[in-house]
Amino acid sequence: MRQVRVTISGFGNVGRQIAAMLLERRGRYRQLYDADVRLVALCNSRAGIRNDDGIAATDFAAMVPGATGASFLADAKPDVLIETGPSDFATGGPGLSYLETLLAEGCDAVVVSKGALVHSGARLRELAASTGARIRISGATAAALPTIDVLETGLLGCRVLSLEGVLNATTNYLLNAMMARRVEFADALGEAQAGGFAEREPSRDIEGWDTACKLLILANFGLGLDLRMDDVTVSGIGHVTLHDVEDWRNKGVVPRLVGRLDLQGGKPMASVAVRTYPLDDPFAHIAGKTKAMRVQTDCMGEILTMGGGPEPMATASAALKDLELLLAGSKNAASRD
Ligand SMILES: NC(=O)c1ccc[n+]([C@@H]2O[C@H](COP(=O)([O-])OP(=O)(O)OC[C@H]3O[C@@H](n4cnc5c(N)ncnc54)[C@H](OP(=O)(O)O)[C@@H]3O)[C@@H](O)[C@H]2O)c1
Repeated sequence: MRQVRVTISGFGNVGRQIAAMLLERRGRYRQLYDADVRLVALCNSRAGIRNDDGIAATDFAAMVPGATGASFLADAKPDVLIETGPSDFATGGPGLSYLETLLAEGCDAVVVSKGALVHSGARLRELAASTGARIRISGATAAALPTIDVLETGLLGCRVLSLEGVLNATTNYLLNAMMARRVEFADALGEAQAGGFAEREPSRDIEGWDTACKLLILANFGLGLDLRMDDVTVSGIGHVTLHDVEDWRNKGVVPRLVGRLDLQGGKPMASVAVRTYPLDDPFAHIAGKTKAMRVQTDCMGEILTMGGGPEPMATASAALKDLELLLAGSKNAASRD
């Protein structure tokens, strides 16, 4: 049986959930993939754990101060890095140095945080190609909702004409709350924060940047484009008023914050904005914190995915789906040597 050494950078909500579920699924990995999957190192910003024999759930409390950083994880000689640090698309965030270091060593990566993929996606892809490493990104592209898988494999051979996605759960929840109960934006946001459905610092969600990041990653990783954030026109939902709500209700339409990519002209057009949908459109029925993606293709017509699950389990599950795809696949041949 082959040994597969896994490390995790970032040990917050998602990182902890991934670690716990990965340990629970070790029997599955042995049975299905003939793989002894060992969690050999993990870290947060201040501390970490390393054990070549495999970290157990009972070790999680014994984080060693100072045991962190890209070289700490690289020393564990991992086969797979699962990156779950903070998303910072302006700098790439801490994930960038973890990915640069480990992809350069030929280590595969399952990426959950969006920052490095937006900031340096093309460079990371080139680096991975040069060492034969593989990058999987379901957790960064609306997680439980099948998005990147659909683009990478479900539509093989087709030309994508357009893509639109409700890719941010918080804004969908807020717009639904305003429409259903006629509450002001600030009140809906306050309720969502009190209920744990919105971040305490929600600007990246409500100003549309989280949706823009996911759209850009899907465009670049899923459709082979080379978009930068400057190429995406971004507006959010902070300007939505009860007057808008009444107007939409009177017209029988439903608002969504939508990331949209139009590929039918000469130049790809990417935007994030509130769009409205008539009641007979599936996008009018995206409940609560659910997400959805619709792709128009030349040969397969219109493909729609919709769904989502409770967090952080849904995102952790998406990352572990990526791990299984790595276990099932074969390593890329490096173009360098
Ligand atoms: N939560 C979700 O449902 C969800 C869904 C989809 C995607 N995501 C993405 O997943 C990522 C993690 O989300 P989360 O909810 O788990 O966030 P979180 O609870 O804030 O956890 C972030 C973790 O990253 C660690 N970190 C910060 N700087 C680091 C560094 N230099 N080296 C190593 N670790 C570092 C933090 O350590 P400290 O505790 O020491 O600061 C913390 O353990 C984010 O990028 C988020 O956008 C989250």
